[in-house]
Amino acid sequence: MVRTMTDTPKASTATTRISLVGGNEESPPGRLRRSRLCEFMAAEHARLDELLAHSTASSAAIDAGAYQDFRKGLLRHIGIEEKILFPAAQRHRGGEPLPLAEKLKSDHGALAALMMLPPSASTFRAVRAVLDAHNSLEEAPGGAYEQCESILDRQLDELLDRCAKAAEVAVSPWVNSPKVLAAVKRVLIRAGYDASLLD
Ligand SMILES: [Fe+2]
Ligand SMILES: [Fe+2]
Repeated sequence: MVRTMTDTPKASTATTRISLVGGNEESPPGRLRRSRLCEFMAAEHARLDELLAHSTASSAAIDAGAYQDFRKGLLRHIGIEEKILFPAAQRHRGGEPLPLAEKLKSDHGALAALMMLPPSASTFRAVRAVLDAHNSLEEAPGGAYEQCESILDRQLDELLDRCAKAAEVAVSPWVNSPKVLAAVKRVLIRAGYDASLLD
């Protein structure tokens, strides 16, 4: 069920609350309430954004530990979408993928390819550009997460539980090679991005 401001309790306090698996989260006053799935997945986006920002916080040195956590977290997040959420939505649509599925899959391919590159200013620039375009397609009102939630309504608790318990994925070391860089640029172009982000 997609909840709206009209079905929130009468606000006697400065915050509204939304039920999530594992507890309640508070929404800032005045902000439109998002679907439970969107809240859950957007919180993952925010956590990954923080890790990426932390990796690049110092102009003198990259925080390789934070970047490694970001890589692991991003690939796990993509796995949740590609292996749990989007296939479940597709099954409920009689085998028809979500309208945005092809674009999202191609962005996921670009992000996974970027994770093969060593951390550098150009890698960070390209990752940030893809995430900015991609995450808003998922989080927007009527976007992929809301579409999933409206389709999967009765299964949502079970699916959120599976998402929360999704295992970490194995992450290969990054590779510093002109051949790999050229291959990643080709994937970026196929996904509709400017390869010069990596120059
Ligand atoms: Fe995604
Ligand atoms: Fe996502």
